Amino acid sequence: MGSVSPGSLATSVPRPEFRGPVRYGALPLPSRYLLSPLAGYTTLPFRRIVRRLGGVGLATTDLVNARALLTRNERTLQMVETHPEDRPFAVQIFGSEPEIMADAARFLVELGVDTIDINMGCPVNRIAGAGAGAGMMCNTSSTLHLAQTVVDAVSVPVTIKMRLGWDASTLTAPFFAREFEKIGVAAVAIHGRTREQGFSGSVSLPGIRAVVEAVERIPIVGNGDVRSVADAARMIQETGCHAVSIGRAALANPWIFRQLAEWEATGQYAPAGTFDERLSLMMYQYSFLEERFGCERGLVLFRKMAHWYLKGMRVRKKLRGEFQSVCTLQEMTALMDQIRDEGPVDGNRTGVLSDVEVAVPRGPVAQW
Ligand SMILES: Cc1cc2nc3c(=O)[nH]c(=O)nc-3n(C[C@H](O)[C@H](O)[C@H](O)COP(=O)(O)O)c2cc1C
Repeated sequence: MGSVSPGSLATSVPRPEFRGPVRYGALPLPSRYLLSPLAGYTTLPFRRIVRRLGGVGLATTDLVNARALLTRNERTLQMVETHPEDRPFAVQIFGSEPEIMADAARFLVELGVDTIDINMGCPVNRIAGAGAGAGMMCNTSSTLHLAQTVVDAVSVPVTIKMRLGWDASTLTAPFFAREFEKIGVAAVAIHGRTREQGFSGSVSLPGIRAVVEAVERIPIVGNGDVRSVADAARMIQETGCHAVSIGRAALANPWIFRQLAEWEATGQYAPAGTFDERLSLMMYQYSFLEERFGCERGLVLFRKMAHWYLKGMRVRKKLRGEFQSVCTLQEMTALMDQIRDEGPVDGNRTGVLSDVEVAVPRGPVAQW
């Protein structure tokens, strides 16, 4: 679908018809391209990185345990920290008890969040088996009651992220989206797979379309397998969704939001960052981590993110492996110097780097 125009590095992709600007209730989003929550990755330092690069309409935290918020658990409070650069900003909460979820939402409003997202898609047994996450798709009345309780508790928009249904025989997302709209939910994000599918197979665009068609006015956010501008074009064209959220692809290409916003405005987009630009971005991210967590924990958190950066940068496998065991700032600096000197395996340090596939959890869904 994409073509590189002669004489420039810009790629053209035909534009579908876009819906109007996206609003969550009274909250206008600066673009229709949103960062999907990725537990362990969509931390404040990463959100600041993608915001700096531009084009992000909204970024959401990893899923946060509502009960742990209320006990003021230290790690949980860290997960909801934000920064003036990180706006508008959503916190995603999970839980199965309406009053706990409502109290958590009230507390988040006191902290100044712009919008609250309820997780109704997490497939992991620990969460779904306890009636939260995707487990909420199995029980209509208690799920609607929970959503209503949270909506009524706060003045900020409340959104819901869910899957198509529990399995292929119970595709309940259109029903839930319609009911959520009636009780005041401001938007619904839909990952176009069932809980049973986990991350297998591909996203069902007709399934997402059915959700778009089920509601009257609230924005529907299409999600799943968008790795490029061409994928987003297909998602918008075939589902009619108002917005698109991107998870895994942002880890390998944090420029994707900027590319999408540029493409929507002009029909073309510039390549993602070069090897050297990605290297600088990595160091920015490390500096945010160090600033907040200090060197030791900052390094541990950084190693996880660096894995995808270094893969995207086509760094030699052995060096990538070594990065995962760096323990001191000195070791990391020495390794970064070596990585900088060597450049990517194909020697192309100033040109376009090809996309990389970001792996998903393996094994039975329930045990991730
Ligand atoms: C490692 C990982 C962590 C995730 N964590 C969350 C989460 O905390 N909350 C959530 O709603 N979805 C979570 N998801 C699902 C993503 O938000 C998204 O729906 C899914 O990855 C499909 O979008 P993508 O193909 O753009 O990645 C996670 C996915 C992955 C791979």
